[in-house]
Amino acid sequence: MGVFEKGMPWTKVKGTALLAASGDPSQEEQAISYAADLLRRGELVAFPTETVYGLGADALNPAAVQKIFKAKERPPDNPLIVHVTGLEDLERLTENIPVEVALLAGRFWPGPLTVVLPKKDIVPAVTTAGLSSVALRIPAHPLTQKLLAAAGVPVAAPSANISGRPSPTTAAHVIEDMAGRIAAVLDGGACPVGVESTVLSLLSKPPVLLRPGGVTLEMLQELLGVQIIDISITGAEEFKDAPPSPGLKYRHYATRAPIYLVEGEGEAQKKQLLALGEGFAMQGRRVGMLICEETGILFPAAAVELLGSKKEPGLVAGRLYGALRRLDAAGVDVIVAEGFSEQDMGRAVMNRLRKAATKIIKPW
Ligand code: TXA
Ligand code: MG
Repeated sequence: MGVFEKGMPWTKVKGTALLAASGDPSQEEQAISYAADLLRRGELVAFPTETVYGLGADALNPAAVQKIFKAKERPPDNPLIVHVTGLEDLERLTENIPVEVALLAGRFWPGPLTVVLPKKDIVPAVTTAGLSSVALRIPAHPLTQKLLAAAGVPVAAPSANISGRPSPTTAAHVIEDMAGRIAAVLDGGACPVGVESTVLSLLSKPPVLLRPGGVTLEMLQELLGVQIIDISITGAEEFKDAPPSPGLKYRHYATRAPIYLVEGEGEAQKKQLLALGEGFAMQGRRVGMLICEETGILFPAAAVELLGSKKEPGLVAGRLYGALRRLDAAGVDVIVAEGFSEQDMGRAVMNRLRKAATKIIKPW
């Protein structure tokens, strides 16, 4: 699909360089140093993390950060997560760091946890969408760590999708949305976690869960020994006027086809899934089914995505965004999706499914 540029070992798609960074170590090194250089020069580079691909810019360069909002078509009031390599960066960028941070860092960093803390003046307003707090995380993916170290600057990076679309978990997903809009994509293969980091606000006590993710609520509560306030379960509607986290008020992870999410479990859920799917098919609509392995294929739908077993929500999380994108690519008119239980990683899965859903059905 891409063309080779003279003297460059990588292809370009609509002007966006696709930097292969897996396999050959010398090629990886070259790709990282090219990507780091672009970041330092204020350009946009998408890169893999353990959660999803991020769309990075130098977090302390307002003009560079501005480009993220433009490339993603992101509403300017939705703040970004800043990616750093160590606790010394936290000291540089934030203040009034509470004791909980040391505990959280010891257990979950590097990893899929983001904390929100009061920001210092060095962090430009555009990065935090004008808020006096900043979201920070130390990512675990080896390529992300190498890239951050080579760039030598904190990197602001939202998920590398066009706003509202499912987050990218492969470089191909990034190219789908971002080719022609950004300087480069560092291709490090598929992201292992598959859903975004957990966002925890430490601005108040007890801490507030703004978004469930790779680190589960159960894990956080066990470590901190407090009941964390979970406001992530509430849908966008409730927070339309004054959302505690700006991202909460927008529809996310959306496919082109409307999604009907059937919650619950057992026979009632299965019957409802079947009735909806067959009903839409009878209306002549091309139906996509997004279901777990146990439920299996209920009827000859136009497209079926099996997310894995209900007993393994971590696997389901890893497959979710790819499945949503494939259903879009299959050109279905409507998607009937199965709900999961909200334990462990199931909480993050249900949070994403509810935000993606056009309609939620509770068959009880
Ligand atoms: O896993 C992840 O977190 C990925 C990878 C690339 O690191 N990034 C990511 O970024 O998911 P994004 O922009 O898609 O989501 C950032 C979330 C949004 O919901 C935003 O509202 C919230 O973090 N956020 C950022 N700064 C905040 C702040 N100061 N206060 C409250 N919420 C904040
Ligand atoms: Mg996002």
